[in-house]
Amino acid sequence: MKRKLQTLFLAYLEKSSMAEIRLEHVSYRYSPDTPFEKVALQDIDLSFTPGKITGVIGHTGSGKSTLAQLLNGILRPTEGRVLLDGEELFVNAKSRHAARFRVGLVFQYPEYQLFEETVFQDIAFGPKNRGKSNEEIQRLVEEAAHFTGVEPDLMDKSPFELSGGQKRRVAIAGVLAMDPEVLVLDEPAAGLDPSGREEILGRLVTYQRERGKTVLLISHSMEDVARFADELLVLKEGTAFLHDTVEKVFSDPEKLTEAHLALPQITRLILDLKARGIPVPASVHTVSDALFLLKKLLKEGT
Ligand SMILES: Nc1ncnc2c1ncn2[C@@H]1O[C@H](COP(=O)(O)OP(=O)(O)OP(=O)(O)O)[C@@H](O)[C@H]1O
Ligand SMILES: [Mg+2]
Repeated sequence: MKRKLQTLFLAYLEKSSMAEIRLEHVSYRYSPDTPFEKVALQDIDLSFTPGKITGVIGHTGSGKSTLAQLLNGILRPTEGRVLLDGEELFVNAKSRHAARFRVGLVFQYPEYQLFEETVFQDIAFGPKNRGKSNEEIQRLVEEAAHFTGVEPDLMDKSPFELSGGQKRRVAIAGVLAMDPEVLVLDEPAAGLDPSGREEILGRLVTYQRERGKTVLLISHSMEDVARFADELLVLKEGTAFLHDTVEKVFSDPEKLTEAHLALPQITRLILDLKARGIPVPASVHTVSDALFLLKKLLKEGT
């Protein structure tokens, strides 16, 4: 009995920490009712699966960053509603302010996000606003900085003295330090070198898996979303063109072409082998995994 209760409680905790974001017929127009009006998103009606990583992909200008900013209340939908755990984000200034801290957004350009005098103050901004004590702030900042690879000697520097890669890490640390319920990452690895990219994406995924966060990973890289996402949302000219598991979305390369996107090269190779009757799993998207698989097949004489 005790064991059963423990299991139920753990399941409850797990579930309760998973936030749901829902968009109800959301549209967004920049400069509405002016000669400069631009429809960026049109009638998006979907939920992001709680506790999963949804990769958001789409050609440049398809509306990815606009979507990101609608999710944490920076932008207000021109039509429709954004709901976080069933509550509308934009009821009043208070709910909108709260949304900024409940949904952590790492901006596409870190320069838009960093504004304090020192790196420490920048990372501390979120926990401070969430009313944490000084000791807690110190701990959260140190943890987040360590996690994202921000060196301790950068803490007293101005964020503007940093390199592009360091700014990116500080911006991510600032969002993680708030411990948001939902994490929206707009091209979080852009501007990092390949090893930094690997490292930061790997760590973010570990963070998500350990804490069961709902994460949106916006990326230009089909390889990255293939490897790290559970589900994909494909935007095409401001509409939700496809929204399904990675496997399902990747199983129709022609549909992706319609959205001006292409499968990762390795995935194409694997699907080609599959079409020729070679027994390969469809979930191989990286060179190293493909190499491992092909070596195994050769050894077995397939
Ligand atoms: N401040 C703005 N004023 C007017 N139009 C804008 C503004 N910001 C974006 N847009 C337009 O809205 C559309 C969607 O832009 P958005 O930045 O959301 O696309 P994106 O998918 O993030 O693109 P990218 O891949 O280049 O980052 C584009 O046509 C863009 O030109
Ligand atoms: Mg963008």
